[in-house]
Amino acid sequence: MINFNLFYQQIATTNLAPWLETLPTQLKQWEKQTHGDYAKWAKIIDFLPTAQAEVALNERVEARLATPLSAGETQRLVYHLKQLMPWRKGPYHVHGVHIDCEWRSDFKWDRLLPHISALEGKTVLDVGCGSGYHMWRMIGEGAKLVVGIDPTELFLCQFEAIRKLLNNDRRAHLIPLGIEQMQGLHAFDTVFSMGVLYHRKSPLDHLTQLKNQLVKGGELVLETLVIDGGINDVLVPAERYAKMKNVYFIPSVPALINWLEKCGFKDVRCVDKDFTTTEEQRKTDWLENESLADFLDPTDASKTIEGYPAPQRAVIIARNP
Ligand SMILES: C[S@@+](CC[C@H](N)C(=O)[O-])C[C@H]1O[C@@H](n2cnc3c(N)ncnc32)[C@H](O)[C@@H]1O
Repeated sequence: MINFNLFYQQIATTNLAPWLETLPTQLKQWEKQTHGDYAKWAKIIDFLPTAQAEVALNERVEARLATPLSAGETQRLVYHLKQLMPWRKGPYHVHGVHIDCEWRSDFKWDRLLPHISALEGKTVLDVGCGSGYHMWRMIGEGAKLVVGIDPTELFLCQFEAIRKLLNNDRRAHLIPLGIEQMQGLHAFDTVFSMGVLYHRKSPLDHLTQLKNQLVKGGELVLETLVIDGGINDVLVPAERYAKMKNVYFIPSVPALINWLEKCGFKDVRCVDKDFTTTEEQRKTDWLENESLADFLDPTDASKTIEGYPAPQRAVIIARNP
């Protein structure tokens, strides 16, 4: 089973140490009520190879073995990794296997990287980190420690599987809780929240929770769905948005900037706004589910299947004064 003791030891002498007052108890509680398949998913990690690899975390997330796996070993690795489907965020290149995830998460990373403060030596929080693709890219940019927080247990197992194949790298850790369960630590130099805000029923509370994790002067990198419009334009979908039933608030960029300023952030600016394409989100062999092409109106790709504006995402950067 995945255990968090090494993480506790690692943060004991850092400014994340106050987290030790609540986190071990919360994770003990979490262990008692995990998803019915969690034990099966976690077990798969034991079957993955332990051989040391040459690791690259720039441009792509890759582990390459000096002696490539045999055809049989490769087949076994693919078999085990496919037990952890759907693979949504990636891609990963591990021991000669290309995990071609639903999302080209590298596209998002490329869009935001030129605009963020350098991560060298930083302590970083990635809220809603999914399988952790961006966390490895943050390590690739020199971050000292990256903590991801995401309550989906399958993603924890995907993250731990990739970690094992990346020589068991201990500079990144995923905590399987929701951000709202996290005490305000005021300890992270940069906080990322990407693809999470529209899933929160109370978006201003989410922004305040993010602020409460930042050091004074720390940077927030917020990425979320937006619509076109002015300061008072916010879409609250009736039932589903692009077939997702957990989408609550999709603001315009001016509305989002207003929310951030109301929550006390300074120097708030939008650095990127882009429609999601079917090159970035698409069906692959690593998920059985539908993908973006199935979520759009087949006769008009500028609309979702429900008739709302098609997914458009913005990257906003802000400072905690
Ligand atoms: C659309 S994905 C975004 C993944 C990744 N950050 C990215 O941008 O590609 C949203 C993620 O938020 C996670 N999530 C949902 N509710 C959350 C919460 N309350 N706290 C933290 N993460 C949450 C989900 O499990 C999921 O992995």
